Amino acid sequence: MSRSPLVVGNWKMHGSQGFIKDFFANFQCDPGRVNVAIVPPYIYLPLLQTYAANIRVQWGAQNVSAQQQGAYTGEVSVSMLQDFQCQYVLVGHSERRCLYGETDADVREKCKVALQAGLQPIVCVGESWAAREAGEAVAVITAQCEVVLSGIELTDHLIFAYEPVWAIGTGKVPTVEQVQTVHAAIRRTVEKYDNEIAKRMRILYGGSVKPSNCSDLFSAPDVDGGLIGGASLQPHVFKEVIEICNKSC
Ligand code: PGA
Repeated sequence: MSRSPLVVGNWKMHGSQGFIKDFFANFQCDPGRVNVAIVPPYIYLPLLQTYAANIRVQWGAQNVSAQQQGAYTGEVSVSMLQDFQCQYVLVGHSERRCLYGETDADVREKCKVALQAGLQPIVCVGESWAAREAGEAVAVITAQCEVVLSGIELTDHLIFAYEPVWAIGTGKVPTVEQVQTVHAAIRRTVEKYDNEIAKRMRILYGGSVKPSNCSDLFSAPDVDGGLIGGASLQPHVFKEVIEICNKSC
């Protein structure tokens, strides 16, 4: 089953207007078969769009409210993301879960509104180091996926990203075997809900991805691309990751 690979740059809370201008001045990339997207801080979406719309780069947001509109100070709704032609939205990134207390139920509600609106939610799942050490990684991740899958209407738009919490921004990466085991477990979990969608679903790996380690990671059969933090802030490095994905995925 061939799935179009996807590489998403998660800029987190980095950047400025000047940074975006410089980034695109230096980002010449032929992504081949790879879909490429960047998720900047909300406020930079309109500016990023003016550059990305001219090249083969899509965009999206790092978070979304589960509410449609109303008195929710500081929140951004799914229709606002659509207003800026977002295609993707991260849901349940571990920084949202760990630092802002997002629960599995919050993640499910956000995923639900994104799917209902036709956006592609990238639902992030991953285990802590303690869970990995205790041999509970697959159980933790399967449970995170189940909460989402059992409460949504599954469509081809759903994307999962496996991001071990201990690998994010640390330079540590799991082995290719560990990554493949988790990705296969995620796909098996989705199969219980819809076998065909499971075959077509893209499952990304994220956590300290860089040019020197991504060829092996992207070669694993159930890895369909990457969610890239630090390495997506440097145009030449991000381009290299995309080109390696085009060869390996
Ligand atoms: P990293 O971040 O590539 O800097 O580890 C990945 C992420 O948090 O999405």
